[in-house]
Amino acid sequence: MKADFWHNCWDNNQTGWHQDEFHPLLTQLFAQWVGTKTGDVFVPLCGKSHDMEFIRQSHQVLGCELSTKACEEFFCENKLAVDKVKVGHFTRYQGQSIELLAGDFFALDAQDVQRCSLIYDRAALIALTPDIREKYVKQLRSLFPSGTKLMLLSLEYPKDEIKGPPFRVDMAEVSRLFDGCNIERVLVSELSDSKFAQRTLKVSALAEVVYFIEL
Ligand SMILES: C[S@@+](CC[C@H](N)C(=O)[O-])C[C@H]1O[C@@H](n2cnc3c(N)ncnc32)[C@H](O)[C@@H]1O
Repeated sequence: MKADFWHNCWDNNQTGWHQDEFHPLLTQLFAQWVGTKTGDVFVPLCGKSHDMEFIRQSHQVLGCELSTKACEEFFCENKLAVDKVKVGHFTRYQGQSIELLAGDFFALDAQDVQRCSLIYDRAALIALTPDIREKYVKQLRSLFPSGTKLMLLSLEYPKDEIKGPPFRVDMAEVSRLFDGCNIERVLVSELSDSKFAQRTLKVSALAEVVYFIEL
């Protein structure tokens, strides 16, 4: 998926991945994931996810999102004051306990994210085609030092039933991408109605799978 694809989604309000509530698996597993870590939480490809509102209650959040429209909507819909400033390749939206960098995730460098020791990925990895997925994980692994804890919500459905996005990313693919990292497959949540946020996927079985991955 190229940048144009995502800008079109936002411009035409085709954001079927967006959830109006906190993700139940995040609220359920948050304390277990975070443990005693107090560093900031990085949310790649964050959209205007409400999950950032949940995380912001206890941790500072840094999000990165291609679409300025998504960033504007996040602050507007949550009625949060925000300062906006252009910094290098990004537009920085600074609110209380949350900062969103509008721009390309692949243009980030390690300095931009150095205060973060946790990463929350919901609908980022699974939104990317296999070639960009590979690049995405390489970029994550180059931005963050080892020991950084990623919570990944992946998606599984029978092979080739739909084209995606969202794409199926199974355990074998997670293991391949995060080769050498400590990977824990924490929980499998079967979605009997095949509903993924606002969309019903035409698949015969669907499950969200949570991983804790130590880079
Ligand atoms: C499927 S959505 C998921 C959004 C969010 N994680 C959520 O759970 O609602 C994927 C998001 O990634 C953003 N995106 C895609 N490529 C990106 C890139 N290279 N840099 C930053 N954001 C990107 C899109 O604009 C879109 O908002």
